[in-house]
Amino acid sequence: MIHLILFGPPGAGKGTQALALVEHFKFMHLSTGDLLRAEIAAKTELGMEAKRFIDAGELVPDETVIGMIQILLQRICTVPGVIYDGFPRTVEQAKALDQMLTSCKEGITALLSLEVPHDELVKRLLIRGESSGRTDDADIATIENRISVYEAKTQPLIDYYKQLDKYHPIAGVGTIQEIAERLITEVDQL
Ligand code: C5P
Ligand code: MG
Repeated sequence: MIHLILFGPPGAGKGTQALALVEHFKFMHLSTGDLLRAEIAAKTELGMEAKRFIDAGELVPDETVIGMIQILLQRICTVPGVIYDGFPRTVEQAKALDQMLTSCKEGITALLSLEVPHDELVKRLLIRGESSGRTDDADIATIENRISVYEAKTQPLIDYYKQLDKYHPIAGVGTIQEIAERLITEVDQL
């Protein structure tokens, strides 16, 4: 089975490209951001707790996010492939994912890292904020905070997966179609 982490800063195009990969390879799409937004829309206790962090551009605590993934473990262990979109976001989450996959005799195949310059990220997020109504895309201060949080807490994952020889950088600029083709070519070579 194939387990791909679609990685990159906020605005790198993880969600968009996950859909392209899911359509092409029929993998399961596991977006922790989407799961959290569904919890918020359903006004669950977990959702209300997560909303405070998300609106501030901060990360939801590891145990909450890891718990959410654990609930899906049975499916993760049985589908032909999974695309992880927005997870793991910390080294703690990466270690928890490794443990969960080991428990079903699986492992991460690769980390596909979408590389996009800072100014392009900000531009994309401001445009998305206008159309999506996402509260965390609404103002520049929250966007800049999310990028800083990414650099401090999430970027270290690159070294984590480099050491495991699983790091695959992909140019994340160009048209959606061009980037999707780069990703599909990379996955075909795995
Ligand atoms: O992945 P996405 O950009 O959709 O996530 C939106 C927000 O959800 C993040 O900025 C963060 O506040 C929260 N989140 C998180 N931990 C994750 C995934 C998302 O804290 N693993
Ligand atoms: Mg997303």
